[in-house]
Amino acid sequence: MKASVIGAGNVGATCANVLAARNFLDEVVLLDIKPNYAEGKALDIWESAPILGFNTRVKGVTNDYSATAGSDVVVITSGIPRKPGMSRDDLIATNAKIVKSVTEQVLQHSPDAILIVVSNPLDVMTYTAYLTAKKPSQKVFGMAGVLDTARYRAFLAEALDVSPLDIQALLMGGHGDTMVPLPRYTTVSGIPVTELLDADTIDRILERTRKGGGEIVNLLGTSAWYAPGAAAAQMVEAVMLNQKRVFPVCARLEGQYGEDDLYIGVPVKLGRNGIEQIIEVSLTSEEMALFKESVQHVRSVMSRLSDLIEL
Ligand code: LAC
Repeated sequence: MKASVIGAGNVGATCANVLAARNFLDEVVLLDIKPNYAEGKALDIWESAPILGFNTRVKGVTNDYSATAGSDVVVITSGIPRKPGMSRDDLIATNAKIVKSVTEQVLQHSPDAILIVVSNPLDVMTYTAYLTAKKPSQKVFGMAGVLDTARYRAFLAEALDVSPLDIQALLMGGHGDTMVPLPRYTTVSGIPVTELLDADTIDRILERTRKGGGEIVNLLGTSAWYAPGAAAAQMVEAVMLNQKRVFPVCARLEGQYGEDDLYIGVPVKLGRNGIEQIIEVSLTSEEMALFKESVQHVRSVMSRLSDLIEL
């Protein structure tokens, strides 16, 4: 089993590192356009193998897509990250061209690969990869919900002083300030979180989750990487090991939730075929209204695509 990670920046390198450390792949290839960058990071990760105890070979290359040939899954992290004061949407002009070109080059060597997009603005970059790849949408999807729910679960675990593993949560919608939190679908080992925390505390945590990416940008001057990289790796694992895990994933809606031809975060089942099912949960009218607001936001960013690249 082979995975490639395009972009050896912070998110890509962390993803490769987590993938290697989990020790289920034969090989991880890390690719970057900056000379020697992926080589250096891959070598450093590989040198941790004797300490961490993994066998997955880690290889870095400079823009040599032939090294990614035969990948089962390819994670696309290429593009610029945001700086303080920027929204993810501000990245579209630069990142749309990059994601299109990366997708084309990846598929020349791994036509059957499943693509997981991480570049921002996430929902629209995943749509860009889908239009470029001309593959079934089950095999092209984006990482955001695993990250957003991880943040939400981490904050809830802190507030409740319980293990983050025992918190199950669902968030839907776009990866941005319009993401739709669903406290009704959040439990602590089956106990609704609404029984354990008062509404104000839940609201505060939800607000922090919505702005979770921005909180890190403000602290570091660039966007997050440990949690995003680990989130993408977890999706690769669910696919490669055919785990049938249920995660919120940026998926193409084809009639579900009353929307068509739109990539946005919804709960799905992930297995060896990629998205094996989009799960349609019931939403109250208030939750549906928030979801539709998020849909409108993603569609407004999407509408800028045709001016930027040929699709
Ligand atoms: C974040 C970026 C990766 O949410 O979108 O941190």
